[in-house]
Amino acid sequence: MKQSNYKVAILSGDGIGPEVMAEAIKVLRAVEQRFAIKFTMQEALIGGAAIDGAGQPLPPQTLSLCQQSDAILFGSVGGPKWTGLAPDQQPERGSLLPLRKTFDLFCNLRPGQIYPAFAELSPLHPRVSSLGMDVLCVRELTGGIYFGEKGRGDDSAFDTQTYSKAEISRIAKVAFEAAMKRNRKVTSIDKANVLQTSILWREVVTEIAKDYPEVELEHMYIDNAAMQLIRSPQQFDVLLCDNLFGDILSDEIAAIAGSLGLLPSASLNGSGFGLYEPAGGSAPDIAGQGIANPIAQILSAALMLRYSFGQEAAAVAIEQAVQQCLEQGIVTRDIQPDSRYGTADVGDAVAAAIAAAA
Ligand code: NAI
Ligand code: MG
Repeated sequence: MKQSNYKVAILSGDGIGPEVMAEAIKVLRAVEQRFAIKFTMQEALIGGAAIDGAGQPLPPQTLSLCQQSDAILFGSVGGPKWTGLAPDQQPERGSLLPLRKTFDLFCNLRPGQIYPAFAELSPLHPRVSSLGMDVLCVRELTGGIYFGEKGRGDDSAFDTQTYSKAEISRIAKVAFEAAMKRNRKVTSIDKANVLQTSILWREVVTEIAKDYPEVELEHMYIDNAAMQLIRSPQQFDVLLCDNLFGDILSDEIAAIAGSLGLLPSASLNGSGFGLYEPAGGSAPDIAGQGIANPIAQILSAALMLRYSFGQEAAAVAIEQAVQQCLEQGIVTRDIQPDSRYGTADVGDAVAAAIAAAA
């Protein structure tokens, strides 16, 4: 079998970033043992660590490593040490925003699950959470109201939302492609009863859907979707959202899933390149103690295998190994407060489960 070789830029960053990244690397090494895949992983400074080590949050060497790589595996950046700096020098704004811009990462993916073994992590009533949830939020990330013309007078202010057909169709394609690898349903979120951009959104999404006859398409108003997510989240597969609606619903999904430590994310540009990172931050309150949950970082690596490298079997192997550890109770304290397992124990167990399944 032909061996695929992928270059991955490893940007661990601050706080728990390096701790959870070490476990994701461990898991990728286990994947190499089982599949015909090789990773060339190179580390570079990012965020606060880069401010301390190289004088700026995104040094040129780091950017050029990213440009030479097939994907970026990102930890998290920021912490109390750097909060006094000017806004565009802050670790988060000074590194993630320019990376999104440089690589045109217009698509943000946030999967959220209620794992049956830990349905009680969800704040939803057990009557609902016991039915489970497995959704993927596909959010447009570089257009819409956050980037439109805005202004402020004495007594008024305004923000505008513009979407082009091209912007809508490229994000819609990602949603349908993702649905083909999942449960073949796309729910497109809009407010087409009041917004012109939503009417165009609906038209374009309906047009794109014709190329995916195997995928069921439904349209839903944002207000109804916010309600349906807490009433019966199991009805959804892929949620396709503009920038604003996706911002809100992805946080709602994270809250329903229960723990920040379990949630990965992907930011893509449609050419296969992507940045993969946990949904949470650098967790300075628990950094350095070896107790951070590495699963969000490990599942981010699985998303990288799926969306940048097309290695579905390897992605599924990681996800199944994670599921197995959850079922066996090999979890950190954010999941089970009296747990005796730490960050490295969970990484070891996931890596071992991948090797054992071979
Ligand atoms: P946070 O996500 O770092 O922490 C919120 C809470 O969740 C904390 O109690 C933390 O201990 C817990 N938590 C998060 N991830 C966890 C994990 N893997 N395992 C166990 N517990 C976990 O958000 P917060 O406190 O608002 O921000 C802390 C720093 O992180 C700030 O400097 C912020 O700017 C930065 N940040 C960076 C992000 C990024 O790099 N993309 C995203 C969000 C925040
Ligand atoms: Mg948000």
